[in-house]
Amino acid sequence: MARLKTRSIDCQSQLVAHFDQSAADYEEAHGDAGRLLDYRLALIRERCEGRSGVLLEIGCGTAIHLFSLAPAFSRLVGTDISAGMIDAAERKAQTSPYRDRIELRVDAAEELTTVNDGSVDVVLCVGAFEHMLDRGQVVCQVSRVLKSGGAFVLLTPNGGYCWYTFLAPLLGISTRHFSTDCFLNSVEAARLVQSPGLSLTVRDFWTFIPKGDMPGWTAAILEVLDRLGRIFRLGIFRGGMILTAIKNG
Ligand SMILES: C[S@@+](CC[C@H](N)C(=O)[O-])C[C@H]1O[C@@H](n2cnc3c(N)ncnc32)[C@H](O)[C@@H]1O
Repeated sequence: MARLKTRSIDCQSQLVAHFDQSAADYEEAHGDAGRLLDYRLALIRERCEGRSGVLLEIGCGTAIHLFSLAPAFSRLVGTDISAGMIDAAERKAQTSPYRDRIELRVDAAEELTTVNDGSVDVVLCVGAFEHMLDRGQVVCQVSRVLKSGGAFVLLTPNGGYCWYTFLAPLLGISTRHFSTDCFLNSVEAARLVQSPGLSLTVRDFWTFIPKGDMPGWTAAILEVLDRLGRIFRLGIFRGGMILTAIKNG
């Protein structure tokens, strides 16, 4: 494993430059890409059960989730701050049988200038919230664009995970890709999500082990802890957090 070096970020344009640079060969860093995508899609589908209409993914990257979710929605919008990511997503979209349902746009989640008030049934955010610089503003925008009764489904690392809070600091291993990365614990995330007119309905954990950022022996220990965490419902042993919040009527 190459040691993870945290990049210092002073402003959003530096973050954009990094994601633009990595867009062309952006790939899963923490294990078997197909298996992990299927797992996340199963979690998302469970949370979107019975919902259709317009799906917006913020921080969509190359839009891998959107393409797979397309059969269930009539319109899918992917937004991202990185033009490089949106270009890569556009290239992939050309081969999707659902191409005519998918719209991809450069738009910061803190602004969502291209999305109308009360126009979206589900807002999805996967592995991007932790990189967003103003998460409070992001949640305000999510609340603004959701229809009443619409759902915000958020998958993000769990800041209360023993890897982030204890093991990595003990071993002197860095866990943040950018100095501005922020891993919220479930209480902090719940508080943030609930403030602008959203009600939290589900707060749970999922298996996320950032294997690409740690030595193999550490990943093996965390796999065992994750299994224990699943059995005994201990969030401290689970690396991923999933929240669903509903827009109040
Ligand atoms: C780790 S990638 C994840 C991409 C995608 N969600 C996935 O799971 O494959 C994080 C993405 O968030 C985007 N991003 C970071 N900050 C953002 C912001 N403030 N607004 C919109 N997108 C943002 C980045 O450009 C990048 O494409």
